This record gives sequence, C-alpha cells and structure tokens, in this order.
Amino acid sequence: MQRDHHEQLQLSWQANADAWTAAVRERRIESRRLVTDAAIVQAVVALAPKRVLDIGCGEGWLCRGLAEQGIESVGVDASVPLIDRAQALSNERTRYRVCGYGELANQAAQLGRFDVLVCNFALLEDPLAPTLEALHELLESGGRLLIQTLHPWRAGGASGYRDGWRVETFTGFGEGFSQAMPWFFRTLESWLTLLRQTGWRLQWLQEPLHPQSEQPVSLLLLLSAEQDRA
Ligand SMILES: C[S@@+](CC[C@H](N)C(=O)[O-])C[C@H]1O[C@@H](n2cnc3c(N)ncnc32)[C@H](O)[C@@H]1O
Repeated sequence: MQRDHHEQLQLSWQANADAWTAAVRERRIESRRLVTDAAIVQAVVALAPKRVLDIGCGEGWLCRGLAEQGIESVGVDASVPLIDRAQALSNERTRYRVCGYGELANQAAQLGRFDVLVCNFALLEDPLAPTLEALHELLESGGRLLIQTLHPWRAGGASGYRDGWRVETFTGFGEGFSQAMPWFFRTLESWLTLLRQTGWRLQWLQEPLHPQSEQPVSLLLLLSAEQDRA
C-alpha cells in the first residue's frame, strides 16, 4: 500500500509538471503569494548561507529567488519534467539535478556539503526517517535544516488530527492537474518526534499567518544537527 502511495506521488509530479509550473510561475496559489514564499526566503537569507540545497525543488523558484540575493544553490527533485523546467531558467548561481530522496545519501561526494538544506512543502512521504537521516551527510558543520510544511492544525481535513495518507486534488490551483497526489499528514507531535529521532534539534519554529484570516498557513522549522556543537 505504501509503495502504491510512493509511486502515485512520484507519478503525480511528472503528470502535473506543466500545470504546477504554471501555477507557481503565474503566482496562482494565494498562500504562497501572500505568506509562505516570503517566509521561506527570509528564513534562508537570515542564515546568510553561501550554499543551499533545495530538496524537492520543483520548477526551481526558490533557487532563483536565492540567486537574486547572491546565494548559490543546488536544487534536487525526482521529477524529470520539473527539473527540465528549472534548468531552462538556470543561471550561474543555480544548478539542478534529478535525484530522488532515496539517492541523496550517495550524492554527498558529487554535490558537496551545504550551509542550509531547505525542504519547502516537499516532505510528503512516509516513512521519512531514512531521508531525514541521509540529510546529515549533506550538511556543513554548524549548518541548518529548514522545513516549511502545511500547518498541521489546518491540514488534517475530514480524517481528523491523526497521522495518515491524504489526497491533494489541486483544486483552485488552475487547469491541467491530471493526477491527484497522495501525501502523508503528520501532527505537530509526530513532526517533532520524527525530527528528534532522526538527529535534528529544533532551534525555533514559526507559524506564518494569513494576513486577513490570521490563521496559520504553514509551519516553519529551523533545525540543527543533534551532534553539532557549532
Ligand atoms: C509541492 S512540490 C514543492 C516544490 C518546491 N519545493 C516549491 O516550493 O515550489 C513537492 C516537490 O517534491 C518533490 N518530491 C516529492 N517526493 C520526492 C522524493 N521522494 N524525491 C524527490 N523529490 C520528491 C516533487 O517532485 C515536487 O517537485
């Protein structure tokens, strides 16, 4: 069952690549436009990194945004068409590579290490522990991991506040989304437990609010490696 979910999730990011690229580049997603894009860019820039790894980079908007701030970044994603879209707009500060999270552990020699690892709405699977453990190898000493995800208190849906698979149909994101995406919902307690168990120490968390509703739109977590004393 979990294998099916994993495959469907990957397939959805191939089938929906054009629709997703249009939704992001035409700034159709209100929560991103009003809140979460700025939140993640500010959080990265505040850390003053030289090199950033954008994990699950999609069509590459965040790498391009960081390049505008003079920050070098590498984006990785399993979706070939999304990486193609990203590469089409790459510049001297951005690099992209097709890479599933399962292959990340073997990439340290090629990609090098990074001051900041970012996962922006890109940790959608279960189990996630192997990915979170593999990320340690890609982090410079004293580096940080930033995760932005849907706010757990807003995203549980009709299934209640319980870990489990949900389905995203991309309603309201525009036309062309031909395949729904399974994704794994985690409660706040589950996120914090998982991160502690995989060697990540919480430095801070933020809950960016929608400017009108004043409800939290996302959960933003800054983490350091447990073994890192820097
Ligand atoms: C919601 S999109 C977010 C894209 C980008 N971070 C952004 O903010 O626009 C999720 C991305 O995660 C990628 N992804 C999900 N699971 C993955 C995996 N196991 N390996 C590599 N990429 C994955 C998808 O291909 C997709 O591009």
